[in-house]
Order: sequence, then C-alpha cells, then structure tokens
Amino acid sequence: MRVAQDTELALALDLLRAGELVAFPTETVYGLGADASNPSAVAKIFAAKGRPADHPLIVHLAGADSLDDWSREVPDEARRLAAAFWPGPLTLILKRSARVPDAVTGGQDTVGLRVPDHPLALALLSAFEGGIAAPSANRFGRISPTTAAHVRAELGAAVSLVLDGGPCAVGIESTIVDLSRGAARVLRPGAIGAADIAGVLGTGTAQGSACFQPAQPPRVSGAMAAHYAPSSPLRLVAAVDLAAAVRAALAEGRDVAVIARTLRAFAAAGLRWHAAPLDAAGYARELYATLRLLDAAGADLILVEAPPPEAAWQAVADRLQRAACGSGENDET
Ligand code: TXA
Ligand code: MG
Repeated sequence: MRVAQDTELALALDLLRAGELVAFPTETVYGLGADASNPSAVAKIFAAKGRPADHPLIVHLAGADSLDDWSREVPDEARRLAAAFWPGPLTLILKRSARVPDAVTGGQDTVGLRVPDHPLALALLSAFEGGIAAPSANRFGRISPTTAAHVRAELGAAVSLVLDGGPCAVGIESTIVDLSRGAARVLRPGAIGAADIAGVLGTGTAQGSACFQPAQPPRVSGAMAAHYAPSSPLRLVAAVDLAAAVRAALAEGRDVAVIARTLRAFAAAGLRWHAAPLDAAGYARELYATLRLLDAAGADLILVEAPPPEAAWQAVADRLQRAACGSGENDET
C-alpha cells in the first residue's frame, strides 16, 4: 500500500479509537464509520446523517470468523452465505450478541453484519480489530455516495476523515438477507440476487416488494418509499413512451434531463441527455453519480427510461422506484 495511504489508515485508526467518525470506501457505496462498540461514537453517525435513532446500522467485520462475536445465534444458512459471498455485497441480519450496543440496532434484537470487498475497508477492519458500524455516508434519505468527493460534498465537516478508495465498483447498496426469523428473506435487493442466494441455500427466498410503504416505523430505512431520492423530481417512463414524455415536458418549458438506455438521443433546447450502460452492473455502478450530476445541473425533471423486467435489473429497478417515490412526480406509480 502507498505511504500516503498507510498514513491515512493510521490516522483513521486513531480517530476510530478516539470515538470519531471516518468515512471509508466499500465495493457498494461509501460508509460513515464509527467504533461499533462505542455508543457515543455511534451517536455521532446519527447526528451527522440526520438519521432517526431507531434506524439500525450495519456492523462491518474483517472476516466471517468474527460472526459469533456479534451474533448469539448463527444458523448454518448464515455460514453458507458468508462462505459463498463474503467479502462481498451481502448483509446478514442475525440475532445480536450481548456485545452489540442498543445504539447500533435501534434497540432491536437483531444486527446487520457484512464483510465488505474493498482492500482499503478490509485493511482498516483488520487493523481495527473490532466492528465498524457504518451506514451509507449520505444525509438521511438522500443518494448514497460512490466517491470520496460525494461524501465531502454531502457531509463536509461532520466527518473527521474520508478515506479515498476511488469510485465504488458495485455502486448500489448491499443485498440484505434476514436470517433472524426462520426462512431467509431478502429485505433489500442488491448485486447478489435472490436466485444467487437460493442457489447457495437450495431453497426459495421470499422477497419484499420494491415500493412497499410500511405502516409501522420501518425496520429497514431503505424500505421507505421515499429513499435514495435526488432533489430534482424523477419519473420512470416505459421506453416506448419516453420520447413523447420528453417532448411534452419540454413543451411545458421544463429543463429536462433524460437517463436513457435504448432510446437514441435527440437534441432540443432545455434538454440534457445521459446514455446509461446497457448492462445492469454497469448501470448500477454509474447510477448514483449520474443522479448527482443531473441534480447539480439543476434539471426541473429527470425522466428515466424504465429498466427491463429481468431479475438482473431488480436492484436497479428498486432504487429507481424509490428515487421516483421520493420525488413527488410519481403519484401514479
Ligand atoms: O452496502 C451497504 O450496505 C452500505 C455499505 C456502507 O456497507 N451500507 C448501507 O447502510 O447501505 P445503510 O444504513 O444506509 O442501510 C442499511 C440498511 C438500513 O435500511 C437499515 O435499516 C438496515 O440495513 N438494517 C440494519 N440493521 C438491521 C436490522 N437489524 N434489521 C433490519 N434491517 C437492518
Ligand atoms: Mg443508506
């Protein structure tokens, strides 16, 4: 590792041990980290994000060997999924151990655990020799950051140090699988699909619906419909209707940004066009940075070509639907 990075890593460890916040890269999105065993450090995460205290945090670990330190009941399914996908974009919800403070779980009896697949995150976690509680390093309800610059722009002085590990390779948050109450259940889709999980477990995997609006205070903050939202209104439009929707919005005098996949670009005054990757993994990698750019450019309306219905697009479709739900443009969806 480069000398500059070694110095930053040493500083990050000092800060974490002193109960301060450190933002760090993972393969999914950047996390806002604190010592998971220190309740007052964890409280700083909620303050910096503006996040309600009953929204639980994921504890990041250096490896699956410490699963039993953080969970009092690790089912065989959890060990198999950890062996198959860690380090990687998978979070397991398990019964928590006595070591996990209430501040991390929002008082729930379960804890989210994950081993991220990023060299800098793994170096930090191994050297720290403890768990690092970290949500995505954005203000509550906003788009997750996929570069160090996004974190600085979003959280500024609220975070002591941002470790820069370059742009995130996956680009959307981890798949969350609940194993704390019997059969595995996907709470949040991600790059690891339900079929991948079922392939390891050899069973069907139940799934929550994307735009579901819980009546109870949410156990999973990402399950709130108005999540991952840009500030500009965003509307999902079927590919066949997109050109007409763009022309109609331009005719109303709106500054329109388009995120297209298959529709060919056309030029018009007041129109900004973004051609997104045709594959789901490439699309996910760029999605949040694209939304930030279009937001910053001040579009009055972001029209997004709806992704295909295939399973590979499920996580992207989920994030786009939430961004749309949060924007007030989508009373009909
Ligand atoms: O990819 C990721 O998961 C990123 C990186 C930084 O690891 N983290 C992330 O954290 O997305 P956050 O806090 O933004 O989203 C984690 C989600 C939240 O919706 C939270 O409610 C849910 O995980 N969660 C955490 N602990 C839980 C628990 N015990 N039961 C149910 N949901 C839980
Ligand atoms: Mg988040």
